[in-house]
Amino acid sequence: MRKILAFETSCDDTAVAIVDEAGVIWGEALYSQVKEYESFGGVVPEIGSRAHIEQILLVTKQVFAQAQLKHQDIDAVAATFAPGLLGPLLVGANFAKGLAQAWSIPLIAVHHIAGHIWAGFRCEGFPLGRFVALIASGGHSALYLCDKNSIQTLGQSLDDAAGEAFDKIGRALGLGYPAGKKIEDEAKRGNKDRFVFPIALRHDPHFNFSFSGLKTKALSCIRAQDNLDSQCVADICAGVQEAIATALVEKTLKAALSLNISSVVIGGGVAANSCLRAKLSEACEKANLSLFLPSPQHCTDNAVMIAKAAHIKLQANLLSDFSTDVHASLAIEDQDLLVK
Ligand code: KG4
Ligand code: ZN
Repeated sequence: MRKILAFETSCDDTAVAIVDEAGVIWGEALYSQVKEYESFGGVVPEIGSRAHIEQILLVTKQVFAQAQLKHQDIDAVAATFAPGLLGPLLVGANFAKGLAQAWSIPLIAVHHIAGHIWAGFRCEGFPLGRFVALIASGGHSALYLCDKNSIQTLGQSLDDAAGEAFDKIGRALGLGYPAGKKIEDEAKRGNKDRFVFPIALRHDPHFNFSFSGLKTKALSCIRAQDNLDSQCVADICAGVQEAIATALVEKTLKAALSLNISSVVIGGGVAANSCLRAKLSEACEKANLSLFLPSPQHCTDNAVMIAKAAHIKLQANLLSDFSTDVHASLAIEDQDLLVK
């Protein structure tokens, strides 16, 4: 069973994993930079790059210790090469290049979105044929038509990503960064019907999203409160979560049903949201669609997903080399640029 050592450093997590081609996770570890950004309210790329440099070797050693493997047991090295913050991407990509060179094994450059899409590959219940993937994270909210040979964008957010809306609204509510999980926790004791937020492009025939109107409405609602007490915060969180989850679920169902695709997969940090997971499960069950939900830990950024996507590329011999560059932005349709 070939084993891949994979790195994910596109944003604020230094993540490392070893996964074999049957999908067995031999080791995985992650250093989160969230604490370094508490006072900034968002990621600072320069601080992030330095933290990745400090952590990447430590996290890698931790993963080898967990897996009880030696470097001779590794058959290929993979890293996220696009899209993401250039400094952080360079740390993981160059570390992977160095190891591939030193150990004389293949290098695989992975697109971050392909990682989210394939996070559940080889897990029980993951579709074997074509499927529609909803990827909702801090940087992206999009629907894709996928199979092992191609990933095609069906629609995407025309403005803010779903996670970005959660984070910006959460910051205005004083919940810190990132705010998605905190909004989910607050929403549990909130009334989702006290404040109702708009769902844009609901009747549009395309599969695009828009979250900036919802965000603006939520920000003005927060400013308009004379008394932003704890119940009011919880009620706003519940209303925001309801609108974002409904928008994502409706468009996902619409895409799958209109294209006659019977399998749905979700991924990205927002896919860890329990309200979205419950709503999508219910809707898919009603529509007789099969749904694969990765564990919440593998929805947010991680290196297991990069290893899974890398195994698909390794099987197809889609390798990279020392001259492969990182890209801050790269459409999934252009991911061939990462192959040499
Ligand atoms: O996929 P991810 O870890 O990083 C990116 O590729 O962006 O996604 C991070 C995003 C953040 O915006 C965060 O607030 C959101 O996912 N998020 C959540 C939850 N957990 C993370 N949003 C809603 N509910 C959650 N439980
Ligand atoms: Zn991500």
